[in-house]
Amino acid sequence: MTVHFIGAGPGAPDLLTLRGRDLIAASPVCLYAGSLVPPEILAHCRPGARIVNTASLSLDEIIAEIARAHGAGQDVSRLHSGDLSVWSAMGEQLRRLRALDIPFSVTPGVPSFAAAAAALEAELTLPGLCQSVVLTRTSGRATAMPETENLAAFAATGAVLAIHLSIHILDKVLADLTPHYGPDCPVAVVWRASWPDQRIVRATLGTLEHALAGEMERTALILVGATLGSQYFGESRLYAGDYDRRYRPVGPNPRFADAE
Ligand SMILES: C[S@@+](CC[C@H](N)C(=O)[O-])C[C@H]1O[C@@H](n2cnc3c(N)ncnc32)[C@H](O)[C@@H]1O
Repeated sequence: MTVHFIGAGPGAPDLLTLRGRDLIAASPVCLYAGSLVPPEILAHCRPGARIVNTASLSLDEIIAEIARAHGAGQDVSRLHSGDLSVWSAMGEQLRRLRALDIPFSVTPGVPSFAAAAAALEAELTLPGLCQSVVLTRTSGRATAMPETENLAAFAATGAVLAIHLSIHILDKVLADLTPHYGPDCPVAVVWRASWPDQRIVRATLGTLEHALAGEMERTALILVGATLGSQYFGESRLYAGDYDRRYRPVGPNPRFADAE
């Protein structure tokens, strides 16, 4: 018996990995985080599977469901939105399962920041502009931020920020970021990336509040940084015609002449 933690992706049901789909189909029990996991994904469950929405359950109740399945020798597929490596609450479940000696596996999913970048048709890292992306959030009722992890500190690096769980305090986000990036810095808000009702607003830090016109619904990502709006960036040296590399030797003395 194994508990399969599966990243269910950002919303579109076909943004699920084949491995995730097959594990769901093979498991007689499916626990899913109903607030964000798309219901269409449950269509992969086998007929007669026990399907439980964990949105209203406590951690103790979730572990009790898993322990019951373990006692019955039944595999469990455990679905969380996006990828499991960020804000999934997987860590605390794994700790309990380790203590109970219940086996588990972890299958990644498409994270929402990647779905939002795709919706924007954006490469977030562009030569000469920005080479780092910070996945972050602001303090919430359930989770406080460590003191050193604040927006101003990240903004000081000039990296692209993908700010989760924060659209409800947009005014504070803008106030923290503007002194570092400046009011002309491009910013985009993507609601429900990859869902049928996905929405996008592009603006600058100085114009975003006006552009949103009070639209503050949850499940949105705020992306900010120079690469979101600029066509003024360099080309990657990797693909330059004169760049000598292992897979494309160039010149009379290629550096990797003996490489296979
Ligand atoms: C609890 S976190 C889950 C993050 C998830 N594990 C991931 O990999 O993206 C929920 C937050 O992620 C962001 N989010 C999740 N799905 C989204 C989507 N489809 N579009 C935009 N933002 C999304 C929102 O900021 C939302 O408040």
